[in-house]
Amino acid sequence: MKFDQSGVDALMEITSRPELVFVRGHGSWLEDHNGKRYLDIVQGWAVNSLGHCPPEVIKAMNTQANLLINPSPAFYNQPSMDLAKRLTGASCFDRVFFTNSGAEANEGAIKLARKWGQLKRNGAYKIITFDHSFHGRTLATMSASGKPGWDTIFAPQVDGFPKARLNDLDSVRALIDDQTVAIMLEPVQGEAGVIPASVEYMQALRKLADEHGLLLIVDEVQTGMGRTGTLFAYEHSGVTPDIMTLAKGIGAGVPLGALCARQDVCVFVHGDQGGTYNGNPLMAAAGIAVFDAITAPGFLDTVNDRAQQLSKGLLALSAKWGMKGERGVGLLRALMLDRDDGVDIVNMARDRAPEGLLLNAPRPSLLRFMPALNITAQEIDQMLSMLDEIVGKVRG
Ligand SMILES: Cc1ncc(COP(=O)(O)O)c(C=O)c1O
Repeated sequence: MKFDQSGVDALMEITSRPELVFVRGHGSWLEDHNGKRYLDIVQGWAVNSLGHCPPEVIKAMNTQANLLINPSPAFYNQPSMDLAKRLTGASCFDRVFFTNSGAEANEGAIKLARKWGQLKRNGAYKIITFDHSFHGRTLATMSASGKPGWDTIFAPQVDGFPKARLNDLDSVRALIDDQTVAIMLEPVQGEAGVIPASVEYMQALRKLADEHGLLLIVDEVQTGMGRTGTLFAYEHSGVTPDIMTLAKGIGAGVPLGALCARQDVCVFVHGDQGGTYNGNPLMAAAGIAVFDAITAPGFLDTVNDRAQQLSKGLLALSAKWGMKGERGVGLLRALMLDRDDGVDIVNMARDRAPEGLLLNAPRPSLLRFMPALNITAQEIDQMLSMLDEIVGKVRG
């Protein structure tokens, strides 16, 4: 198949992309327009929790598409209620609002916290977020994010997101004033380079929030739905957040997110929140199939086995090449390089023949690994040996 340059020219330019068109995917493998196969450790940026084109999601969506796609959010539909019940039953949250993306779920969390602040905290509206955090690309979620440079690109920012430092409690304490309504964080900062908030830190944040009457919001868009080896990452610390957002893995590739909240925080009144696609039965059916796969007996045990295998393999690679070790939780991991050749490794891995390897370098000195949760032991070994070969080539 020829590369379609006129098609490229018709798309708005938003990022630099290799001249590859992916035409099909199955499990941990993708195939491009030339028939070349790639072992995919990016999986749509931790989106395809069950790999490419998982049969259970295809089946659920086919069945649902033949029944009902969107009756409008002004009416109930059974799949959205069934998925909401699954999520509330498996978490500390009482109610769910479905969204079409992670950014939209976080935007909803921000609105909910501000509304709660208006009603319960004399109009307090500031949400403390963190340096290097990533919460999405809407104006409010970009303002909430601590990505360097994002404070000026679309200035002026949405007001009210003072930034603290992750794993530094004093930096949070110093920002609290009578306008503060919430603390919002990723349990593991993903885009920042896979930096976990420690268990003690999560517990201390909960305590601090309670002392000051603040909400604790966890952005589990990347860490939720089994990615860290538990269904939700907040479970590792045993804290009870007030609000949680989900997306990415919950839809296994289709646009689905969720804003989950405890009952006493559910203060939206009619008209405050909505959207014509929100909670449509087609996406909810996909979400149910994903939820049932991830919560099936033994599934998360296997995720934890694969995580250990990946961690051990990355440590061995690190030792062999004089790198700086690895870190992460579950199947969200990073290899810390000893030099800034992450992008060269990613490019050479992709261009490798006969089979390519898709990796991500969120920083020049770091590689991030976010495979399908059902990647096999053999595929992890294959990835490690391909990576070893590529590092050898890049480093001459
Ligand atoms: C922690 C976190 N929050 C929010 C988002 C935004 O999600 P989406 O791209 O679905 O809007 C991302 C995406 O990478 C993320 O990692």
